[in-house]
Amino acid sequence: MSELRDGGPVATGTIGTALVAAEAATRDGARLASAIVCSGLTYRFGTHTAVDHVDLRIERGETFGLLGPNGAGKTTTIRMLTTLLRPMGGTISVLGVNVAERPMLVRRMIGYVPQLLSADATLTGRENVELFARLFDVPRSQRRDRVESALTAMGLTEPAGRLVKTYSGGMIRRLELAQALVNSPSLLVLDEPTVGLDPIARTDVWEYIAALRAQANMTVLMTTHYMDEADTYCNRVALMHAGSIRATGSPGLLKAMLGDGSTLDDVFRHYTGGTLDDNTESGGIRDVRRARRTARRLG
Ligand SMILES: Nc1ncnc2c1ncn2[C@@H]1O[C@H](COP(=O)(O)OP(=O)(O)O)[C@@H](O)[C@H]1O
Ligand SMILES: [Mg+2]
Repeated sequence: MSELRDGGPVATGTIGTALVAAEAATRDGARLASAIVCSGLTYRFGTHTAVDHVDLRIERGETFGLLGPNGAGKTTTIRMLTTLLRPMGGTISVLGVNVAERPMLVRRMIGYVPQLLSADATLTGRENVELFARLFDVPRSQRRDRVESALTAMGLTEPAGRLVKTYSGGMIRRLELAQALVNSPSLLVLDEPTVGLDPIARTDVWEYIAALRAQANMTVLMTTHYMDEADTYCNRVALMHAGSIRATGSPGLLKAMLGDGSTLDDVFRHYTGGTLDDNTESGGIRDVRRARRTARRLG
């Protein structure tokens, strides 16, 4: 952890200085700081420990999946990594920057798509992205270009002028990705990006994310309980259960460790106590219902 120099001098304020901060971690020819390093990460709600001493290291350019049944602690972990919750224990470094010390600097380097739908149905797609550009303090002179390229990257140029309440669920999810991208983030964090979508819309969303990642060499951290998505799109995954990380590795390695012919579903069951079906079922339906309620509100 010492190579991260969490306590080192870092300028604050702009995206440019965020890069300086990240580069500062690499002085003396050391390799670039990891995208995320957290150790001993802990969070409790009352007496319930939702996240229990989690250690994670995610390298730059990786697509990393945090997998686990409903209630495993994935969202709570993500919220700490994105500065939205202050950890009760442990440390986090994002691109070489200590999150506890410089949360604003970290916010400028990341794009975050939360679990629940967040676009405003009464605005057009373009207006939603413009709103985020202003929120993220994208300089006025760059705003128009950034908004258009985020919309283009997500295949939304054509419907950008329409009200969001006319969009399908898949289009809304892509719009939320465009909102997160307008910041030109180095790290994109997606919490259940495809929950509530039909299989075609799910594949579509993932193809856009994969293309983006290839193009911008972005690091992607996502949570999902769809094992097929994790298997196809993640370089590495971590299996989380009851607040703890039970296993970490590439899907291929984890399957091989379990034996010939194992699927990622088998890996999931093995490390989370055989709870995939039960929890995914109830969590899935609950999440879909919630997503549908939001969709109704939107529509
Ligand atoms: N705001 C909250 N208040 C109390 N308990 C919470 C709150 N948010 C989450 N929890 C509890 O913390 C645990 C982890 O939740 P969460 O991080 O949302 O899991 P996941 O995203 O893996 O489904 C669960 O037991 C959940 O009930
Ligand atoms: Mg969650």
